[in-house]
Amino acid sequence: MDTTKSREASDLFSEYCDNTTIHGVKYLVEQKRPIIERVFWILVFTASIYSCITLTINIWIKWKNNPVIVSFDDKSTPVWQIPFPAVTICSETKALQTKFNFTEVAIKYRTHQKLSNEERFVLDSLLQVCYADYFEKLKYPSMFGNASEYVKLLFELGPSFDSTFMHCFWRNNEKTCSESFKYFLTEEGICYTFNSPDQSNIYRNESLLNELVFDRNYKEEIQWSLENGYIESDFKSTLFPYRAMGAGAKAGLNLYLLDVKLNNDMLCRNGQQGFKVILHTPGEIPRASKQFFQVPLGQRVLMSIKPKIITTSDNLKHYDPLR
Ligand SMILES: *[C@@H]1O[C@H](CO)[C@@H](O)[C@H](O)[C@H]1NC(C)=O
Ligand SMILES: *[C@@H]1O[C@H](CO)[C@@H](O)[C@H](O)[C@H]1NC(C)=O
Ligand SMILES: *[C@@H]1O[C@H](CO)[C@@H](O)[C@H](O)[C@H]1NC(C)=O
Repeated sequence: MDTTKSREASDLFSEYCDNTTIHGVKYLVEQKRPIIERVFWILVFTASIYSCITLTINIWIKWKNNPVIVSFDDKSTPVWQIPFPAVTICSETKALQTKFNFTEVAIKYRTHQKLSNEERFVLDSLLQVCYADYFEKLKYPSMFGNASEYVKLLFELGPSFDSTFMHCFWRNNEKTCSESFKYFLTEEGICYTFNSPDQSNIYRNESLLNELVFDRNYKEEIQWSLENGYIESDFKSTLFPYRAMGAGAKAGLNLYLLDVKLNNDMLCRNGQQGFKVILHTPGEIPRASKQFFQVPLGQRVLMSIKPKIITTSDNLKHYDPLR
């Protein structure tokens, strides 16, 4: 039984080898071939299969790790098809020294004088936005108190909006600063943002501090999205977020900011004075402690922006985000 089956199988194999078009296989079974030649063909055949598989695996791994090809396709886009960046300004003065003398309280704490409850409370809230290494060295116990109260206090102690923003010019026309800027709470305390949706249009209800949301039902009409751009490409209409219509300093945003040097507490901010300016995409959250420009006091600073647009092909939509 077994022998007939194996015979049949070997017959079938030789028939296949005789007739196949794969090169070399034919010589394996030809009766006249010397054994050495057969061995040679077996080696050649195995070697070619092996290299085929290795090459395929290499390509498979390459595709698996890196399924996307980035190519450069230079195309000019009119500046009015993209929004002007959102501009967030944070003052380095976190508490006016005339309202709360951080340095004085720090000295008091270092010299082991007793701090009043109110001083302790203000200190706790200021340490959220001041560089706290001085107090860390003195092993000041860190506190996690009521966020709403901390923020309310920062509003009270910090420089007011009206005393900071003197003049605002947008595309060479004077604008009311308070209409153009909205407050934005960042890890650096209270900042003000131009050309970005309001906080309550970015965060969820439960992440907002009740005291600071003036009108929860207020929804800004945002006429631009990162995926689809502006709803209208006409450059004449005024859409939000605003767009620049040309290049140069006068086509953008011009600000006159005021900070009183005497108010600035050197210890709180490790000697930094002036303002932090963060440029970001409208709708993005400004990362005030990570990416910023420092604008010093008494100087004029000009920032020019070169936008870079990277678009992703629609075909990539079905890929897993991890890949
Ligand atoms: C704050 O305290 C420091 C140290 O005692 C003092 O030099 C400074 O003048 C005080 N600032 C104000 C505005 O009183
Ligand atoms: C925080 O303080 C506010 C009043 O300032 C109060 O309404 C709120 O309940 C407090 N939150 C917590 C978690 O204690
Ligand atoms: C947020 O709160 C307001 C007022 O409490 C409510 O009208 C609105 O529906 C809430 N939004 C969400 C998304 O829950």
